[in-house]
Amino acid sequence: MPMPPTVSSLSVVIIITLFLLLSCDNNHYYPGNITILPVVSAMKLVVQRVKSASVSVDNTQISTIGPGILALVGLHVDDTTTDLQYCVKRLLNIKLWENESGAPWRKHVKQLNYEILCVSQFTLYGTLSKKYQPDYKLAMKSESARSMYSQFLEMLREGYTESKILDGEFGKMMDVMLVNDGPVTLIIDSREDVNGGKDSTVVDVDSSA
Ligand SMILES: *[C@@H]1O[C@H](CO)[C@@H](O)[C@H](O)[C@H]1NC(C)=O
Ligand SMILES: *[C@@H]1O[C@H](CO)[C@@H](O)[C@H](O)[C@H]1NC(C)=O
Repeated sequence: MPMPPTVSSLSVVIIITLFLLLSCDNNHYYPGNITILPVVSAMKLVVQRVKSASVSVDNTQISTIGPGILALVGLHVDDTTTDLQYCVKRLLNIKLWENESGAPWRKHVKQLNYEILCVSQFTLYGTLSKKYQPDYKLAMKSESARSMYSQFLEMLREGYTESKILDGEFGKMMDVMLVNDGPVTLIIDSREDVNGGKDSTVVDVDSSA
């Protein structure tokens, strides 16, 4: 009979396992054939419920909205139209507002005639280098991202109304101002189903809101 593992040998095993997990590439397996679900990442939206928001370029305001959503939009190098569709559907249907009798999480933008301001944001795919400098190799390259991002806006307008979908300016330095209402901020990842996650991850919701 083998000796039962002691606490310290167990913790060594745990530390080694963690080390292997952390040092492993997402899509690889570590010795022993324990399968790790590949962590696929793709299009990412940071969805913020706002009382108002605006974008300025060179100190000139180019877009402004009242109540609605400010969405930071990050495109991953692997994104396809399917990812766009996934995000469009969720952005137009996410229920961030209360209904007439005050029950929370019941109404989406379209039901309230609210607006959506999208801001392209490749830095969502920044990873830190050893020198703690952000590295954007996972973000879609500029020209493909530009056309995919405008396709995304087109799809949102088709799914809602032209005038309700506003935009920053792709590729420009922008000043983004917002009044986050709650705060309520969620992250939508177009491959979260693949990753075994739920529809979205609540990052910061003030429970008293
Ligand atoms: C892992 O699985 C492969 C294919 O099933 C097999 O050939 C290999 O021997 C396994 N490795 C270990 C360490 O079990
Ligand atoms: C708001 O939602 C609650 C819970 O679903 C429901 O009981 C209530 O009737 C709704 N109010 C209105 C005005 O629809």
